Amino acid sequence: MGQYRGNPAAIRGLVREDAVHRDLYLDPEVFALEMEELWAKTWIYAGHASQVPNPGDYYTCTIGAEPVVMVRHTDGSVRVLRNRCAHKGTKVVAATCGNVGRFFRCPYHAWSYRTDGTLAAVPLRGGYDGTGFATSEAVRGMVPVNTVDYRGFVFAKLSDEGPGFHEYFGPSLSSIDYMVERSPSGEMAVAGGVLRYMHDCNWKLFVENLNDTMHPMAAHASSAGTAKTLWADKPADAPKPMAIEQLVPFAQGYDFFDKMGVRVLPNGHSWSGVHFSIHSSYGAVPEYEAAMIAAYGEEKAKDVLGTVRHNTVYYPSLTIKGAIQTIRVARPLAADRTLIESWSFRLKDAPPLLFRRNVTYTRLINSPMSVVGHDDLQCYRLIQEGLAAGGNEWISLHRDYQPQEAAQGDITANGTSEISMRNQYRAWAKFMTLGVP
Ligand code: FES
Ligand SMILES: [Fe+2]
Repeated sequence: MGQYRGNPAAIRGLVREDAVHRDLYLDPEVFALEMEELWAKTWIYAGHASQVPNPGDYYTCTIGAEPVVMVRHTDGSVRVLRNRCAHKGTKVVAATCGNVGRFFRCPYHAWSYRTDGTLAAVPLRGGYDGTGFATSEAVRGMVPVNTVDYRGFVFAKLSDEGPGFHEYFGPSLSSIDYMVERSPSGEMAVAGGVLRYMHDCNWKLFVENLNDTMHPMAAHASSAGTAKTLWADKPADAPKPMAIEQLVPFAQGYDFFDKMGVRVLPNGHSWSGVHFSIHSSYGAVPEYEAAMIAAYGEEKAKDVLGTVRHNTVYYPSLTIKGAIQTIRVARPLAADRTLIESWSFRLKDAPPLLFRRNVTYTRLINSPMSVVGHDDLQCYRLIQEGLAAGGNEWISLHRDYQPQEAAQGDITANGTSEISMRNQYRAWAKFMTLGVP
C-alpha cells in the first residue's frame, strides 16, 4: 500500500490554496483513488442523446475506470448501465455503438438483459431452482448508473454519494443552454463521429489548460503566430479564409485574454470568455441571424449570439465550446495517459456555414491532425517529464490569488488569473475526501 489510500490527511496535503504537489500528476495510487472517489461521486459526461436516437441504440464508453453502455430504452429514455454480465463478469457489449434490438445478450453463456439492465433470461433456468440465485447479486442484471439527460447531454454518476445533478453544476448549465439555443429550433445532434486524440499526460493537465489564458501567446506562437504573420500585411477588408479567421485570434496578447474574464463556480466548474472571446470576431451570417430573431425574438437572439464563451469546464470530464458547437471529453486511462475525444455538433435549422466553421475549428485546433493542439500536448508531456526533477515538489498557482476567494465560490475575475485551477483543486480536495470531517 502506498501513502495515500486510507489517508485523507495526506490527500488534502497535496493541495494548498495557491500551489499543488507533483504527486497529483505522477502517482498511480492518487490516480486510482481519483477514479474511486472524484470520478465516482461527481457527474461525468457519458455521451449525447443524439448518438442513440432509436430504442436499442447504444454507445459504450467509460465513466472513470468503469465500462458502461449508454442505451435508449424502449420507453424512450436514455439509460447508462454497467457493461458487466451479472454471471461471470464478461463485458456484455464489445462494440462501440450499434443497435441491440430489445435485449443485450452476453457472448459467453447467453444471459440476456433488457435495455434497462434487468435480467430477462438465463438458459436452463431450472438449474437455479432451490439455489441462492434468486436473492443473489446476479438478479440485479446490468446494474444501472445514476443518469441525467440535460438537453441531450447525458451525465452519469457511479456512486450514490455526492451531490444531485443541479446542485453539482449550478449556473454552469447556462453554457449548455446557450449552445443548444444557437439552433433556431433548439436542437442539435452529433455529426461526423468522433476524433480520438491520445494524450500521454495526466487528465488534469488537459482540464486545467482550458481556462489557462497565459499560455496561447507563448505556446501557440509557432502555429497561431505564423497565421498572424501570414496575414499581417493584408488590407483590413480583404476576405479572410476561415482558417485565418480562426487561428489569428489565438495570437492575441496578454491584454486581450486578461479582459476576456473568467468565471468560476463551486465544484470546479468555470468558463473563460465572460465578456468576449477568440470567437467574437467571426464574420456575420445575416440569414442565420434573421432565423434566430424569428425563432427567439430580437432580445433573446442577441443575447444568445452575443454569448461567445471560450471554454466551459464541467469538472472533471467535459469541456464545451458553445460558440462553435464542439466539445472535448477527457477519459483518463492512467496517471500519465488520457484519451481526449473531440465531438462535433450540427445545429438544426442553421445554415451549413456554421457546421463548416465547426469542422474547420475541430481540424485546426482539437484533432490529432491539429496544428494548435500539438503545442499544448508538447507542454503537457514536458510537464510530466519535468516534474521528475527534484529541488521543488510544488506547482505554483499563485497568479492573482486572493485569500478571500475560497469563501466566495462564484467569482468573475480577470482572464489571466489562475483562479480556475485553484477552483478545480478545491473541488478535487472536497470530492477526494467527501464525508471526512
Ligand atoms: S459470463 Fe455472461 S452469461 Fe456467463
Ligand atoms: Fe492551447
